[in-house]
Amino acid sequence: MQLFRSVVRGVGGYLPSKCIKNSDLEKSLSTTDAWIVERTGMKQRYVIEGSQNTSDLASEAAKIALANAKIDASDIDLIVVATVTPDHPFPATAARVQAKIGAHKAFAFDVNAVCSGFIYALSVADQYLKTGMAKRALVIGADAMSKIIDWNDRATAVLFGDGAGALVLEAVDSSHEDYNRGIQSTHLFSNGCQYDLLYVDTANANATQPGHVSMQGREIFKYAVKLIGEAVETVLKENNMTIDDIDWFVPHQANLRIIEGISVHFKIPMEKMVVTVDRHSNTSAATIPLALWEAVSDNRIQKNQRVVLEAMGGGLTWASALVKW
Ligand code: ACO
Repeated sequence: MQLFRSVVRGVGGYLPSKCIKNSDLEKSLSTTDAWIVERTGMKQRYVIEGSQNTSDLASEAAKIALANAKIDASDIDLIVVATVTPDHPFPATAARVQAKIGAHKAFAFDVNAVCSGFIYALSVADQYLKTGMAKRALVIGADAMSKIIDWNDRATAVLFGDGAGALVLEAVDSSHEDYNRGIQSTHLFSNGCQYDLLYVDTANANATQPGHVSMQGREIFKYAVKLIGEAVETVLKENNMTIDDIDWFVPHQANLRIIEGISVHFKIPMEKMVVTVDRHSNTSAATIPLALWEAVSDNRIQKNQRVVLEAMGGGLTWASALVKW
């Protein structure tokens, strides 16, 4: 029997202020608002400006999550940041966040599992909390995809945006009234043989440009529907539940058609899906915590409800988790 349970105490999100609408992209790329909306459901995305970087987005999301949790940064033991767009190759973006928010006693490191990164980071933090190695953790998904997009490539430039979302987790023991809440299980999968379907091509990298996203869109689309759906089946089976037992599904937001495909093939009602892709586009590791932040803020997700998180990304990686809110 596990000693502790990781319970969600607060959620936060942050989007940079610069908004790029599809109509803005029409001016620089051979594309149209109608094509982007029809193929992806995306209408706009937010991007960083000037010296703003991934750790700034992550720190703002973390501060909101801490305020909602009513927990001081100085009481955090662990910070895990999921990102593929760190401020620097090293130190970890989590270390920069630690300094920016004043979480002085925390140990801090990054996780890279691309669009599945947030669930991977959640799973890692859960292991520390469950075993009593940490009491309170900040789990952050943050990406500034605009740094690694070729803005002249219409096949990828229209798909991504920047943002961050954060959860504050607290370990409670079996005598606590919240012990049956929190993270019930996490499930992580990888297949590195398919790395070339989606990767950052560093062939033309230089000091200011770390490389560009290279993607086989149609293949990724098919794998996303299949693998995310299978990850949902795994989490339901492991917890002896059916779709009817789940209040909300929070999928990675890569494309509205992928979410609709999962809904059709795995018979998950669209009314139970939290969707933000129309307004945020694909913010990689940030999509799931940003969607959680939105659905908690507008009171869709309520205390004690069951929430399934699900994602697929480069690697390939895919993952799911069940959280009792
Ligand atoms: N504007 C206009 N036309 C475009 C654009 C654009 N922005 N991009 C591509 N096209 C063209 C193509 O050149 C092609 O033209 P052609 O028929 O003359 O050759 C045509 O549109 C159709 O292209 P497809 O790639 O076949 O279009 P598809 O319907 O597959 O949609 C898309 C492309 C949106 C990329 C889709 O495949 C997709 O979403 N794939 C998943 C990608 C993804 O999610 N990536 C994120 C990372 S992974 C993850 O997060 C799960």
